[in-house]
Amino acid sequence: MAPTWQAHAPTDEYSLVENGAIAAKYLARFWQPIALSRDYKPGTAKRLKMLGKFYTLYRGQDNAIRLVQDRCPHRGTSLAYGWVEGDGIRCRYHGWKFAGDGRGENFPAETDTYARSLCLKTHPAREYLGVVFGYFGEGEPPEFQRFPELEDESAGELLSLAVVLPYNYFQRIENDVDEVHIHYTHGEFAGSFGLVDLPRISAKETEYGLMSTATRADGSKLHTHAFMPNIMLREVVIQQDLTNLTMHAAWRVPIDDANTLSVMIDRVAKPEPGFHEKLKTMVDPTELATKIMKCEMTLDDVDPSHPLLPVIQDTVCMAGQGIIADRQAEHLGASDRAIGLLRRLWTRELNALREGQPLKQWRRSDDAKLATSEMPVMAAE
Ligand code: FES
Ligand SMILES: [Fe+2]
Repeated sequence: MAPTWQAHAPTDEYSLVENGAIAAKYLARFWQPIALSRDYKPGTAKRLKMLGKFYTLYRGQDNAIRLVQDRCPHRGTSLAYGWVEGDGIRCRYHGWKFAGDGRGENFPAETDTYARSLCLKTHPAREYLGVVFGYFGEGEPPEFQRFPELEDESAGELLSLAVVLPYNYFQRIENDVDEVHIHYTHGEFAGSFGLVDLPRISAKETEYGLMSTATRADGSKLHTHAFMPNIMLREVVIQQDLTNLTMHAAWRVPIDDANTLSVMIDRVAKPEPGFHEKLKTMVDPTELATKIMKCEMTLDDVDPSHPLLPVIQDTVCMAGQGIIADRQAEHLGASDRAIGLLRRLWTRELNALREGQPLKQWRRSDDAKLATSEMPVMAAE
């Protein structure tokens, strides 16, 4: 029997990505992060699932990263289990070899003519700030979205992380513009950084998506920039350094309807020594969150120095909504304004895509860094 926290049924089409769903078609129109560069040494091939479908990602001996269809055209086993040879990949089952551009090159038990007649489907792939991005849509990919906020080497050390979350990606996106949860889900971090009183939330559509603003009693404002369709940029307090904010960008990509790849890139002003080592030896955050959701332990039992404690806290709350949340049963409030706007933007764009109408071309107008906070206005108004 499914655990009680898996009990909800899907209700919103922007949640679902499997079986050719419209949300997957929309997400496929944008570059999506799919893996960390450091996990792919030359000669490495792995199978991954994105937007409900499997792919093989490999790094050739020429150091270039390549994203290809997963199933071998011969009899369909995953190419990820084969061998990387030069810039190409050879299937483990009967040895068919495909070159880096996807062309059939050598089928040992077949003729060269037959090999040259078959080709793998390839997808554009590129690397940026330690992360591999892929494009799954048709035709030419759009211009790649860069983030000057993350490229500024003077702002600190680059930290790239990827975590698989056991719940639907749209809950994770909604949470990105949910400032109030910080006071409860991550109360110890909010308090230690001086976020004492609950904010008033406002939100507006922008050229790149939406900006949510949290205004507190002293007049200070914190901005969260939600780039359509699934990117969040803001400053956050992270556990390794409670005294400094870090610039934080996060992509929430559906692996399938029930699982999300969360890829985070941070510029950490003052990284804690040994933080990377801690990540390698930590207890798996999803394992801990699952135990908590089964009531085998509580969040208070988690080692407070766990390097991904905020991820565990979020996972409990968001997987706790149901693997795919039932939004029909919600009662939204004024503090959910940004979530409401996010859903309206998605609904509008999915309807346009379905009806063949023009889609909004989300973009930044220039390369200027976006403001993530504003100090209190001192003068009387
Ligand atoms: S299934 Fe790949 S070579 Fe036969
Ligand atoms: Fe959170």
